[in-house]
Amino acid sequence: MNWSPDKTQVKSWNEWDTLRHVIVGRADDCHIPPEEPALDAKVPEDSDMRGQWGRRPQETIDRANELLDNFADMLRKRGVRVDRPTPTDFSKPVTTPDCMPPRDVLLTVGHEILEATMSYRCRWFEYLCYRPLMQQYWEEDVNFRHEAAPKPRLTDEDYHADYLSEKIGIEKRLKWTAEKFFVTTEEEPLFDAADVLRFGKDLIVQHGFTTNLKGIEWLRRHFPDHRVRAVNFPGDPYPIHIDATFTPLRPGLILNNPNRRLPEEQREYFKKNDWEIVDAAQPAHNTPPPLCYSSTWLSMNVLVLDPKTVCVEASEIYQMEQMDKLGMEVVPVDLRDAYAFGGGLHCCTADVYRDGECEDYFP
Ligand code: ARG
Repeated sequence: MNWSPDKTQVKSWNEWDTLRHVIVGRADDCHIPPEEPALDAKVPEDSDMRGQWGRRPQETIDRANELLDNFADMLRKRGVRVDRPTPTDFSKPVTTPDCMPPRDVLLTVGHEILEATMSYRCRWFEYLCYRPLMQQYWEEDVNFRHEAAPKPRLTDEDYHADYLSEKIGIEKRLKWTAEKFFVTTEEEPLFDAADVLRFGKDLIVQHGFTTNLKGIEWLRRHFPDHRVRAVNFPGDPYPIHIDATFTPLRPGLILNNPNRRLPEEQREYFKKNDWEIVDAAQPAHNTPPPLCYSSTWLSMNVLVLDPKTVCVEASEIYQMEQMDKLGMEVVPVDLRDAYAFGGGLHCCTADVYRDGECEDYFP
């Protein structure tokens, strides 16, 4: 059946087919969470966020919302249906960093939207922001499958104590990443949705801080008709969320963060199937904005609207230039002042509907 704006349908098999319906996050009531194991391991040692927590300043929330609203309006003008989550008061039962990045919690695979387990305690309740939309889709689309992965217990058993000393140092972190020794243990399945990239029949999953091997195995058993492949990026001292590291643009073309190259033996699979992996352009900034968890590599955190069109953050001149050279039409989007609320253009969205069917790109 074809897409029509009057009828809700959930379907998205990959990261690039024509986008028709999307969720764009909001920054309302966003907090910096207090200390907890997995989060501490992720905050860079020289970050301005160390030791800070509480509600984010209202003017930064307002500014982030302004940018997210503009992004949503631009998408609507291009004919994309945009839904927004319902903010929850996170300071009541627990604190959470944001209800901003829907990409981290919601994994759309075909007609299914799966709520990830998450791996930070502060994000345990984040799925609640999306429940009103999930209920609505469920009522309106008889083919929609709403699923939730088993809620993890997130006791101290889930985290390696070794990671929790303040001064580990980058060298040791890189050694640990290379050895695949991450802050999370294998106590129970853990995954964040933003560690998964959808390539039709293949799901490519980053094993790192936020997704453990049991989480990947859980996905494998949950999606028996897919091939679930684990990948690693040894150059990343804080490996969470794959979308500032590995970015597919269209069938056959992936951008890879040059500081976090996919190891040779893991490249084989892509090469064999004629996928080209190119180094992403350098970010335009030397530092992330204030109170931001992510690195400057949000430059490559882009939202593909269709295989010829891509949204890139408007200050990322090198990334825009590279997209142009790669034959993509670039839609610049101002978002940098919202980065602190959970990330870039890919993070702050979640697919609901893209054209196209489930193809095998690695036959
Ligand atoms: N690990 C990435 C970086 O700092 C940030 C990825 C953010 N992605 C997301 N979906 N929240 O480079």
